[in-house]
Amino acid sequence: MRTALITGATSGIGLAYAQAFAERGYQLILTGRRQEKLEEIAHTLSHTYHIPVTICVVDFKDTKAFERFSDFIKAQKDIEILVNNAGYGLKKSFIEDELETQLEMLQVHITASVTLAHLVANQLKTAHKNGCIINVCSLAAFTPLPSSAMYCSTKQFLIKFSESLAMELKPYNIQVQALCPGFVHTDFHSRLDISEEACKNYGIITWGTPEEVVKASLRGLIHHQVFVIPGGFNKLCYNLLKWIPRPLYLELVGRYSGQFSSKNKE
Ligand SMILES: NC(=O)c1ccc[n+]([C@@H]2O[C@H](COP(=O)([O-])OP(=O)(O)OC[C@H]3O[C@@H](n4cnc5c(N)ncnc54)[C@H](OP(=O)(O)O)[C@@H]3O)[C@@H](O)[C@H]2O)c1
Repeated sequence: MRTALITGATSGIGLAYAQAFAERGYQLILTGRRQEKLEEIAHTLSHTYHIPVTICVVDFKDTKAFERFSDFIKAQKDIEILVNNAGYGLKKSFIEDELETQLEMLQVHITASVTLAHLVANQLKTAHKNGCIINVCSLAAFTPLPSSAMYCSTKQFLIKFSESLAMELKPYNIQVQALCPGFVHTDFHSRLDISEEACKNYGIITWGTPEEVVKASLRGLIHHQVFVIPGGFNKLCYNLLKWIPRPLYLELVGRYSGQFSSKNKE
């Protein structure tokens, strides 16, 4: 039975992917750290869509636990879809934080995604099967911020990795997508103690839903798009950012973004 492996499926964008692939009849392998939530989701999806759902409770920061999880994935034969979605933001800036905490983001955003992509791509290639790898990046990759050095740069890595891999895997009919959402209503911001008030639409700044993001991603797969930005406002931002001279961007954002982020915290 064709299988979709979705990391970080306890809430937000990962949960919306789980729902979308369940609706399409895929068997699911879902990961997360909140065991109760995962169990609840697995129970609902397997009963509603009559599909097998396997849950893996694993913290990707824990290298030993991730190694055991990779061994489990290595033994799978039917994975056709991989969604590298597990991710988070950091509360403290690079210099204020412990180095270890900052380095953990490399493990979760980069090492875990690259490892799973390598395993699944090889399984698909060996089995001569079509499939796809979706890497959930972020529009933040194009907006370096003083408080988010590791977040913005790890997401930029994932974009370049996806684009390069898309070319490499095309001859094997394996699609790779770099999905770059803007602001999305999920647990992401509450985990950073950002107030609900700050997560509302403001002027032309619009927040999307996880379902809209996943719909754009799946539409992108149909059209073989490697680089997908969901939502009109986000596409506009991306295009405008290309025109701003870098020294001007760095000067303005460096000067004003600190004030903006502290105002948005409770
Ligand atoms: N929300 C946005 O505005 C936005 C915008 C652009 C990109 N993104 C990206 O979208 C992805 C999904 O985030 P989301 O917005 O849906 O947030 P979310 O609701 O907080 O979901 C994040 C998921 O990642 C999992 N996760 C976090 N840290 C993990 C770790 N150390 N090990 C294993 N799993 C971990 C969480 O598991 P637990 O719940 O079990 O901890 C959860 O399932 C992330 O990669 C994020 O960077 C989000």
